[in-house]
Amino acid sequence: MPALRHHLTLTTNFLAKHTKLRPKVALILGSGLGALAGALTDAVDLAYRDLPSFPVTTVQGHRGRVIVGRLRGAPVVAFDGRMHLYEGLPMWQVAYPVYVAQRMGASVLIVTNAAGALVESLRAGDVMLIRDHLNLTGDSPLRGENDPEVGERFPDMRDAYDKRLLAIAQEVARERGFPVAVGVYAAVLGPSYETGAEAKMLRILGADAVGMSTVPEVIAARHAGIRVAGISVIANAANPEVDGAPTTHESVQATVNAASDRVRSLVEGLVERATT
Ligand code: HPA
Repeated sequence: MPALRHHLTLTTNFLAKHTKLRPKVALILGSGLGALAGALTDAVDLAYRDLPSFPVTTVQGHRGRVIVGRLRGAPVVAFDGRMHLYEGLPMWQVAYPVYVAQRMGASVLIVTNAAGALVESLRAGDVMLIRDHLNLTGDSPLRGENDPEVGERFPDMRDAYDKRLLAIAQEVARERGFPVAVGVYAAVLGPSYETGAEAKMLRILGADAVGMSTVPEVIAARHAGIRVAGISVIANAANPEVDGAPTTHESVQATVNAASDRVRSLVEGLVERATT
């Protein structure tokens, strides 16, 4: 039996003892966006470290809890705190929450992250909906044995970011009266931020924003047949020649926090409209 399947059985059996909810939507909350988890009602809140076979995040500002509850009436599972490739985990473990969500019955994934801007039209505090990505990590969560019960060996990545969900998010932003950009997210290993030359390279490659996450989970979600919406909060200019101040983890979190009301509106709107 493939190892992934064995781990998932241990994790989801444990979760099933704590909640009867069958989430339709999974949320992965990035740096500085954990407050969204507080919006869930009728919630069961468990620490990653208490879940059998669940990898643990070590990054400050990422809490490491899974919350199963309701958002706008719809059953959702929120992963507050994500794992990153730079923590040293294999990529399938970074993407593990997505496979847990699939086993729990989710068909939609909303991923959020903090990112650095590569184009001048994006400024700190802006929200960008992800329309496509560049996987520049050199790795994949699908590396190794494939489990056909989870998904196929060679999943298609066209329209990895669901066009209908993207349109819903744009509609929500329009109705609530705040701007959102749409762009391409490049994922790098990190954890160091970019040099000026690297930021220029990423821009030439066609990326609008850069970060150290999200792509593992999105590849896993497509593998698992889950539709994806991706939301980046622009925390800084990635090019140190554009941004005078050095990028720090603390400044990233503070900027992202300031955008959390807009992200919450988008997530609530998506949950409401994607599940009806
Ligand atoms: N680069 C990479 N990851 C990031 C950045 C950045 O500038 N800002 C927030 N996450």
